[in-house]
Amino acid sequence: MASLTLDKVRKAFGPVEVLKEINLAIDDGEFLVLVGPSGCGKSTLLNLIAGLETATDGEIRIGDRVINDVHPKDRNIAMVFQSYALYPNMTVRKNITFGLEIRGVSNQERDKAVADVAKLLQIEPLLDRKPSQLSGGQRQRVAMGRALVRDPDIFLFDEPLSNLDAKLRVDMRTEIKKLHQRLGSTIVYVTHDQIEAMTLASRIAVMKDGILQQFDTPQNIYERPNNMFVAGFIGSPSMNFIDATLSEENGKLAITIPRNGNPIVLPLFEAPESYRGYIGKDVVFGIRPEALTHKRTGSDEPGSQYVNFDSKVEVIEPTGADTMTVIEIAGKEIVARVRPDRQPKPGESMTFSADMSQISLFDPDTELRI
Ligand SMILES: Nc1ncnc2c1ncn2[C@@H]1O[C@H](COP(=O)(O)OP(=O)(O)OP(=O)(O)O)[C@@H](O)[C@H]1O
Ligand SMILES: [Mg+2]
Repeated sequence: MASLTLDKVRKAFGPVEVLKEINLAIDDGEFLVLVGPSGCGKSTLLNLIAGLETATDGEIRIGDRVINDVHPKDRNIAMVFQSYALYPNMTVRKNITFGLEIRGVSNQERDKAVADVAKLLQIEPLLDRKPSQLSGGQRQRVAMGRALVRDPDIFLFDEPLSNLDAKLRVDMRTEIKKLHQRLGSTIVYVTHDQIEAMTLASRIAVMKDGILQQFDTPQNIYERPNNMFVAGFIGSPSMNFIDATLSEENGKLAITIPRNGNPIVLPLFEAPESYRGYIGKDVVFGIRPEALTHKRTGSDEPGSQYVNFDSKVEVIEPTGADTMTVIEIAGKEIVARVRPDRQPKPGESMTFSADMSQISLFDPDTELRI
């Protein structure tokens, strides 16, 4: 097991800069989840750590050891690829144990290792098949098995659950979490799935266009996103963004949202110092759907800071546990998360509550958090 450091790491393919000065450091035993849109450089970053690509600039260290020039096979890293390259002419069992065999692990230990991972990954009946006789999701689990039988310093997983059906995906997510808790391994894990990112990560790195946007704990990323990109990328349904102004009335700050002659005024109970420079200016008001609900009062939940306002319901999208309720404010569609028993009805007006303790404000020009 080991810590991992990326120090000003850059990667260019010819003239195209795919990773721009990435600084990341995780401790021994951390579970780093990398997220970001397709093409932002996640797999490239894993390839650099694994040694399958060479960094154009910067330093990669495992523990105190600089590994930029260390051969991939000497890095003691196990990687599960996005494309789960399996040996086509070997059985599943052989695919999993081949690496161990090369390293001279005894027959008995190999059998035990393969039995353990096969059980964990629910692939016991498949051990004597060839990869061509497996579904995509089964192949993916075999590729994971091949990594899990080893005892590397670092595991790299590139979307290892992307081909699994919803149920198996959730099961495997729990298994990976258990495995990490049991082994305390250092893991770098790429996913598109936000729930996976939030539930698995000790820290999340959000990337866009080869630039690290934020590197923090899941809770901080969710509650205090650095910018509008991170705020919109993490969380589902996405955070609502509303053009507003920050005003001061009777010494108290408030968010004012224009609405043809009938503005919505949402007083702030408390405000960070950084808000003061924006009084009288335009801001982007960010609020997550769950902080925008049916009418509530402060006594419903101590510590919350509810402000009520009325709005017409446009569309409802019941999900079972909640009803996503679309309202229109200042020409924009806003999603509120409402309890189904409040029965929001399209076309009718309803009172909503905004929890002002859970809001974010952004600068409309820089898109950075205020
Ligand atoms: N060998 C290469 N030569 C040139 N460009 C490359 C090469 N490998 C990757 N790229 C480019 O680098 C960028 C990042 O690719 P990468 O595979 O790291 O993205 P990703 O974040 O893993 O995306 P996805 O989520 O789709 O897997 C892309 O624009 C890709 O086209
Ligand atoms: Mg990729």
